[in-house]
Amino acid sequence: MDNLVLSINGRNQHVLASAEENLLTVLRDRLALTGTKYGCGEGQCGACTVLLDGRATRSCITPVTAAVSTKIITIEGLEQNGVLSPVQQAFLDEGAFQCGYCTSGMILSATELLRATQHPTEEQIVKHMNGNICRCGTYPRIVQAIKRASQSAAKGGNR
Ligand code: FES
Ligand code: FES
Repeated sequence: MDNLVLSINGRNQHVLASAEENLLTVLRDRLALTGTKYGCGEGQCGACTVLLDGRATRSCITPVTAAVSTKIITIEGLEQNGVLSPVQQAFLDEGAFQCGYCTSGMILSATELLRATQHPTEEQIVKHMNGNICRCGTYPRIVQAIKRASQSAAKGGNR
């Protein structure tokens, strides 16, 4: 076991973990950050997506040691002072989920997109979100939510 320091959602957290563990396991099982979901465990579904230095990253296939010295943002870190991020709010407003299992990963991938491209076209949205799987098939509403979030970003609300 190693004593690692991870920067998660703006706070340094000490965690005992072995270097072979993946980031998803550390987040969920050692730090109780269960908003990040385990789907396939093979980097194929996007349910476990978090941001590492702003980049959407599959935490299930990322060794925890690769996350040391990066800024990790999980779904729990998007809300600020009780206010949801524009992407979170847009998903809620559009009802862009059924079971919700894919939602954290979708929101973090969409957040990455909108930080890089404030007004993506539908084609850009679909292309960017392609690696995130929704077994409930709520894709049309997810695209709609991202469009809605891009409009609130235009009003200065994105983060
Ligand atoms: S659980 Fe990580 S990509 Fe599916
Ligand atoms: S809402 Fe169920 S997997 Fe997407």
